[in-house]
Amino acid sequence: MASKNTVFRLNSRQGIVDLAKAEEDIPKAAAYEVLIKIHSVALNYRDVAIATSHYPFPVKDNLIPLSDAAGEIVEIGTNVQGFTVGDWVIANFNSANLYGPMKDWTGGLGGPVDGVLRNYLSINANTVIKVPKESSLKASQWASLVCTGTTAWNALYGNVPLKPGQTVLFQGTGGVSITGLVLAKAAGAKTIITSSSDEKLAYVKKKFGADHTINYKTHPEWAKEVQKITQGNGVDYIFENGGSGTIQQSVESIAFGGVIAIIGFLSSAKQEEMPNVAGLALSKGCVIRGINVGSKQLLEECVRFVGSHNLDIPVEKTFPFTEEGVKAAYKYLSEGQHVGKVCIDLE
Ligand SMILES: NC(=O)c1ccc[n+]([C@@H]2O[C@H](COP(=O)([O-])OP(=O)(O)OC[C@H]3O[C@@H](n4cnc5c(N)ncnc54)[C@H](OP(=O)(O)O)[C@@H]3O)[C@@H](O)[C@H]2O)c1
Repeated sequence: MASKNTVFRLNSRQGIVDLAKAEEDIPKAAAYEVLIKIHSVALNYRDVAIATSHYPFPVKDNLIPLSDAAGEIVEIGTNVQGFTVGDWVIANFNSANLYGPMKDWTGGLGGPVDGVLRNYLSINANTVIKVPKESSLKASQWASLVCTGTTAWNALYGNVPLKPGQTVLFQGTGGVSITGLVLAKAAGAKTIITSSSDEKLAYVKKKFGADHTINYKTHPEWAKEVQKITQGNGVDYIFENGGSGTIQQSVESIAFGGVIAIIGFLSSAKQEEMPNVAGLALSKGCVIRGINVGSKQLLEECVRFVGSHNLDIPVEKTFPFTEEGVKAAYKYLSEGQHVGKVCIDLE
């Protein structure tokens, strides 16, 4: 075991230049904790929003950022049962949310609580999940399930569960959308994905088998395209990543009784153009449902599904765990050129 814990902290939150590397003591696993040697971490749009002070929820000072890690147990607290040194594990996004809805904003790793951009993490064993060692998935792929996988699983199964043959629409080609697309296809759903880029759409169709694609820049009223594709039936599920700026098109795209999962806040409507969401929901009898990542129970279900299907979770690019590598990973994600997940490998 190394003698020190290499850790990155955000000393202020004016941008990724504020990420500072430090050598700290390796924590001990307390009685109910396990000590995890981290092998890979995954980035989310949230991490860029936090680093640039655009995140609308609580963030602690001098934060160790990032929420998603996969690694190996190297030490076990005296009162912990069910784990062995050498187990491959991930930890839930919010340690306080083991089942059911999240109760407050105080528990998310890499926000109100120190996160995972470090070599070693000591954490309550209750929040930790084993991942199958025998699968062919890399640590970066397991790490990607923590926030993104749980969010996508929650959108598909957290309310009215997806059924084979139903149609799911994904806004944009970021981590949540592409991971959701991989999960939905494996569950026998039809898929439609939107993007601002024809190149990205062609790539997603070829690599991930999206059934239909729509460019939301060249088709600002993309709901019309959705209605053409679905012969006027609409889609059963939507991953709403835009927010108030795209919800009108989403409701015009949804089937009667469908589920719109409100996930992102990438496109805001002007105050004077704010849509009447209550009226829109009524017009389609649809569910418009906010998603707060999800519980450990949802992550466990997602891990079981991914493990049993050996699903190739879409990690587009990995960076090294150096000062340059970490900053380059943040920059790459913030530039929005990626399709799928961006990760940092420590091992
Ligand atoms: N609620 C939750 O629990 C939860 C959990 C995870 C993430 N999120 C949020 O979900 C959103 C996506 O996260 P992510 O990690 O997937 O982000 P990401 O990997 O950075 O992907 C963002 C992608 O969204 C697309 N996009 C941007 N503006 C859009 C618009 N007006 N309409 C449609 N698509 C648009 C872009 O796709 P193209 O380049 O293809 O156009 C962009 O590449 C973020 O707002 C994030 O904060 C929420």
